[in-house]
Amino acid sequence: MSTTIRLPRPDDWHLHLRDGAMMRAVLPETARDFARAIIMPNLVPPVVTGAQAAAYRDRILEALPAGMVFEPLMTLYLTEDTDPDDLAAAHASGLITAVKLYPAGATTNSASGVRDFAKVRPVLDRMAEIGCPLCVHGEVTDPDVDIFDREAVFIDRVLDPIRRATPGLRVVMEHITTADGVAYVQSAESGLGATITTHHLIINRNHILVDGIKPHYYCLPVAKREDHRLALRKAATGGDARFFLGTDSAPHTDSNKLSACGCAGCFTAPNSLPILAQVFEEDGALDRLEGFVARHGAAFYGLPVNSGSITLSKSDPTPTPTHINTDDGPVTVFDPGFDLSWRVVR
Ligand code: NCD
Ligand code: ZN
Repeated sequence: MSTTIRLPRPDDWHLHLRDGAMMRAVLPETARDFARAIIMPNLVPPVVTGAQAAAYRDRILEALPAGMVFEPLMTLYLTEDTDPDDLAAAHASGLITAVKLYPAGATTNSASGVRDFAKVRPVLDRMAEIGCPLCVHGEVTDPDVDIFDREAVFIDRVLDPIRRATPGLRVVMEHITTADGVAYVQSAESGLGATITTHHLIINRNHILVDGIKPHYYCLPVAKREDHRLALRKAATGGDARFFLGTDSAPHTDSNKLSACGCAGCFTAPNSLPILAQVFEEDGALDRLEGFVARHGAAFYGLPVNSGSITLSKSDPTPTPTHINTDDGPVTVFDPGFDLSWRVVR
């Protein structure tokens, strides 16, 4: 006996596709199941101008396997030198959907991020004016702040002041990992949403650190303690339209993960939807999966719900695929720690 559910084709509101050989290998893993994704601009060098976003978009579309339909929603990487006119033109032409704020040094390839938030005020004001959303990596980088507190401190010291200074700015708190993040989003009257990743619904910090260190569970923002994970699950499965899926699928080769200084990122593109179906089912909220993966984000961004559909089917649990191969080397797929009963019917 198998159970099936049908959903509009989902969107991923936070995705790392990389470039070159890595992009060619990981792109089909997303395009197979997702109609659109917000593409992170943290390449080396980062995507900072409209021209760079256009070239990156072309490379993605060229790498898309024949027969797959997928729309990359491009972003610009905000720097202290971002030209507001270039940004506004890229937004007006439909080339970019959002702009990404990385505090300098917060995560992978974020060296060109923002140090002095006062310097980007004019750009943020312009974004509010033209209705271009800001996607925020919400962690302070101050070495005095404990890594597990960096999201909560960012809300007080950086995000809330930015939102007060530029009230019309639409903001997405990316990959929230704390009950504080959930509460802050719920406290806002309008113009604030948050993405939640697949893996932060599954792991807490014990999964990374107990019984030997697990580099494949290390990502940024780092998973927090169990009560935060439970707050995220409640937010994701609770039906509140301010929360939507952004997988933050962030592939790194095994050699870059399994190193004395391993990269941050979990690669969840291949199995996010089956994992999420299981999570929502466990929490008695299977009927709310559609909102989280296919409706809430589109509504926040003012885009239509996708017209196609996907079917998920439940049968006997099967082990998850462990890795994919790329010309740069193997990339390990996120292991949820349990066999998956759900699969996408293809
Ligand atoms: C991301 C990456 O590898 O680009 N890593 C991660 O752990 N999420 C960067 C990011 O989104 O922070
Ligand atoms: Zn990310």
